[in-house]
Amino acid sequence: MRPLKEFLHEMPKAELHVHLEGCITAEILLPLEASRGEPANPEAFQELYRFKDFYGFLEAYGEVCRRIRRPEDFRTVAGMVLVSLARQKVRYVEMLFTPAVFFRLGLDVDEVFHSIFDAAEQARKSWDIRCSLILDNVRQWKPSFAEKTLDWALKFRPWVVGIGMGGDENGRRAKEYESIFREARAQGLRTVAHAGEIGGPRSIWDALEYLSAERIGHGVTALEDPVLVKHLLRHRITLDVSPTSNVRTGVVPSLARHPLPRLLEAGLAVTINSDDPAFFQTSLSEEYWNLSEQFHFPAERIVQLARQAFDSSFLADEEKAVLLKEFDQYVQMKNPGSKDS
Ligand code: HPA
Ligand code: ZN
Repeated sequence: MRPLKEFLHEMPKAELHVHLEGCITAEILLPLEASRGEPANPEAFQELYRFKDFYGFLEAYGEVCRRIRRPEDFRTVAGMVLVSLARQKVRYVEMLFTPAVFFRLGLDVDEVFHSIFDAAEQARKSWDIRCSLILDNVRQWKPSFAEKTLDWALKFRPWVVGIGMGGDENGRRAKEYESIFREARAQGLRTVAHAGEIGGPRSIWDALEYLSAERIGHGVTALEDPVLVKHLLRHRITLDVSPTSNVRTGVVPSLARHPLPRLLEAGLAVTINSDDPAFFQTSLSEEYWNLSEQFHFPAERIVQLARQAFDSSFLADEEKAVLLKEFDQYVQMKNPGSKDS
């Protein structure tokens, strides 16, 4: 492995925008189906993950979710996902998960949560990786589902640290969920929202105003509005950017034309994430490496992006300090500036 690639792979990481459901690969799903006595054709399975655009992605995502039929399957799914993250030296993950999807599919949601927590507990003991959940919502669905989601979030603290908003940004207006997100903040939950992915700056403004979003998922259209950029800078709002996701859903035409370098030049706080690695054929390690290959970022810049993820996390200050110390020690010890880049 090239020295910089190895440095990036071994670097302690935090991931703030990855969906549990978006990590369900065919390799995870096939044995689950087989164990239900439903042997599947692996080639047909690969079809599940093919899509042309953002809306095709949402459909494929829904279809994969529909194939999880038993609450206990989440123990396997979360366990495999956390192993894969631990192998990439992810030390802390804020995992998005959308319980309303499985509620609508008729699964016992409490059991689903307990299965995920079992796996997270096990992963912490075995691989020293910490996992918190952010419960995502679906913008196309009635606010009553978001109310239920808030109840689950409150019930399952401290595993759950916040709520989010995902799905079709051009679906219902953020304003319809305002009171739910306000209540979440009042109760001490943290808030994030997908915005400025397929929607423009107006959608980011709405996420800030009505969903009290503390971090924005994607936000790649922010530069279209200089007043918004000033606002994001003044309030230190982080953009959780997922470059490969944006290319694969057609939000940007290519990695070369991704606005990431310009977001950084504007001084915005940015983190790098994998979003839905099973659908976008990526991983957090690959995301960092791709940036080095595509934009020829010096190692220091990639280190700064990786450090930002710990900094922008919802960890308590003391826990953040411990992980940041570990991160800084790694960087100091490996001194990437002196390596081939
Ligand atoms: N955008 C909207 N909804 C989603 C995404 C995304 O990137 N990933 C999973 N659900
Ligand atoms: Zn996402």
